[in-house]
Amino acid sequence: MKVIHSPLKLKNFLELQKKKGVRIGFVPTMGYLHKGHLSLVRKAKKENKIVVVSIFVNPLQFGPKEDFSRYPRNFARDSALLKKEKVDVIFKPSAKDLYPDDFQTAVSITRLSRPLCGRTRPTHFGGVCTVVLKLLNCVMPDVMYLGQKDYQQFRVVQQMVKDLHFPVKVAMAPIIREKDGLAMSSRNVYLSKTERHEAAFLNQALREGKKQVSAGQRNVSKIKSAMRRVLNRTSQGRLEYLEIVNADTLEPVVKLTNRSRVLMALAVTFGKTRLIDNLLVRTH
Ligand code: PAJ
Repeated sequence: MKVIHSPLKLKNFLELQKKKGVRIGFVPTMGYLHKGHLSLVRKAKKENKIVVVSIFVNPLQFGPKEDFSRYPRNFARDSALLKKEKVDVIFKPSAKDLYPDDFQTAVSITRLSRPLCGRTRPTHFGGVCTVVLKLLNCVMPDVMYLGQKDYQQFRVVQQMVKDLHFPVKVAMAPIIREKDGLAMSSRNVYLSKTERHEAAFLNQALREGKKQVSAGQRNVSKIKSAMRRVLNRTSQGRLEYLEIVNADTLEPVVKLTNRSRVLMALAVTFGKTRLIDNLLVRTH
């Protein structure tokens, strides 16, 4: 396994591989890897000859009051995990490599970046798009793998590559969860014991929503009330949003119709820790 820091060195190495016609899979991450990240790596390994994983905590996607400086980092552990997965290249640029002093160009995306997480994180998805496009330009993969855990990020990035004609397939992989249903996240380490216990309510609320739909409920405000009742059982969590939206446009849905595909999504804050989760639901 190679660890490459310089974008130019990475490009040179991968261009040689591409001349041999090998298929390249790419998994962008911010490190502090868990089984969710590793599931993306495994999928990439299965489907490609060469797998590149990037590790970069991207300052551009954090708001001024967010956790950029305390975001957990452990490169020794990450690289040992990736070595075990037989990853071919870790791309670990520095902030100066990606954002030198004269850096002044950014990607912005309108409609998909505004609802859900965009409401409280107005600059987040612009920051994600900018770094992902830069990483894509360095790696030029055949396929990029993203997790459903950050579904809005997946939609935003999918839209960006379409809008900007970037030749890459964007694949989405399912959410990997702890035993009690909590979606795995690098930020889960911030949670106290009580918060960690109560964090399981996020997924329980989503499951309640799905149960309502399966039982024939089509009224979105009634489904949301049932979900809120589950979330009200937390003493420490503050609900930031609970939405049922069209899975493609992320626009609110008022009534479920037959054969609709919706995303149930929520964000709950425990102290300074913001957790998100979602579920895709289809009606028949
Ligand atoms: P990060 O939070 O490290 O996540 C990297 C990838 O892992 C994302 O595609 C995310 O959706 C996926 N992931 C995280 N938790 C998961 C889980 N429990 N199950 C399945 N997949 C999971 O997302 C980012 O980094 C950054 O925004 C990035 C795309 C790297 C741009 O900076």
